[in-house]
Amino acid sequence: MLAGKRILLIIGGGIAAFKSQELIRELRRRGASVVPVLTRASEEFVTPLSVSALAAEKVYRDLFDLSDEHEMGHIELSRAADLVVVAPATADLMAKMANGLANDLASTVLMATDKRVLIAPAMNVRMWQHPATQRNLAALTGDGVLSVGPVDGDMACGEYGPGRMSEVPQIVAAIDAALSDGPLKGRHVVVTSGPTHEPIDPVRYIANRSSGAQGTALAAALRDLGARVSFVTGPARVPPPAGVEVIRVETAREMADAVAAALPADAAVFAAAVADWHVVNAGAQKMKKTAGGMPALDFAENPDILATVAGMSSGRPGLVVGFAAETESVVDHATAKRARKGCDWIVANDVSAGTGIMGGSENKVHLVTAEGVEDWPRMSKTETAERLAARIAEAVAPR
Ligand code: CTP
Repeated sequence: MLAGKRILLIIGGGIAAFKSQELIRELRRRGASVVPVLTRASEEFVTPLSVSALAAEKVYRDLFDLSDEHEMGHIELSRAADLVVVAPATADLMAKMANGLANDLASTVLMATDKRVLIAPAMNVRMWQHPATQRNLAALTGDGVLSVGPVDGDMACGEYGPGRMSEVPQIVAAIDAALSDGPLKGRHVVVTSGPTHEPIDPVRYIANRSSGAQGTALAAALRDLGARVSFVTGPARVPPPAGVEVIRVETAREMADAVAAALPADAAVFAAAVADWHVVNAGAQKMKKTAGGMPALDFAENPDILATVAGMSSGRPGLVVGFAAETESVVDHATAKRARKGCDWIVANDVSAGTGIMGGSENKVHLVTAEGVEDWPRMSKTETAERLAARIAEAVAPR
């Protein structure tokens, strides 16, 4: 897929710039050509000579370099590529991109390009987690900019956490995916996500600790493989991904209706933590404390959305995937749940308090299929989502 492709690689000024040299080598090994653009700051980490030697191309550095403008202006430079890659994408470069600044060659090229842009962010943990960077990331994602990483790891500054640039194989895979249509092109996938809120009265509700992070990551990963995604989400803590159809619901019953309306689909993945019951005698007005004692709440069971879709006699999605959040005997319960609900796969995880999984950024899952149980390693919810999306693509893609 990479053979014959032309990649414009903007190298930002961060310690991860050294990995970009390895990236150039790997891209060229796969038959792509790489045209490098260096920012001023990146030249503190890599030299134009070494980058040029690795790329076997002229290195572009300065917006006002007349000979560059003579050979190839910045507009042409930005358009001659099949893909623009920014690696490392520093906090500063992301901020410039998100705000449309164009005060040097790299930012001008990024403004002028009509090609897809993929960023590989790399920065200190705090800088990555800073609301400004997260706002910029959301803005860029909304603009259709693709991103890979960052990942958790030890950082040059001595801290640990998210902020480390993805490794070269992951970046190459993301470049490959960005240049291809994706195995799920033309496929429709419904994903449920987040908790549900079941009202007790107009101001109170029953909820659970689901953040929506895993379902959101999965929807993004499926989108990145080319799927059209209908994302039915309860009131989650994380924002929904860009580039998917977002259907916001509050209760399990609303979620059931939204899923029914979103069908038909090639696959349906039920990552939502749906409340099992709703309050039948929910108050129309705020319930008051009375001398009479505690209010009595009557419960009725919610529709089981997963079991309903898995059991459809006609129009059932080709692949129905459920999640099982368990706190003990995870695999046994998940295996029984798969049979009981009639779904094809169950993604099971241990959400007991000590694991930090519910509401956390990592997951450790077991994939239960008709063939048996696969134990996946503990990894970020994003990586879990990418792996699951790839499996879904394998199962669904061949027409
Ligand atoms: N699910 C659903 N609708 C419901 C309840 C659950 O679609 N009303 C889906 C969830 O999205 C998940 C799977 O079913 O994919 C399992 O959810 P879970 O809460 O673990 O299962 P329950 O049926 O509630 O089982 P139990 O409470 O006995 O563990």
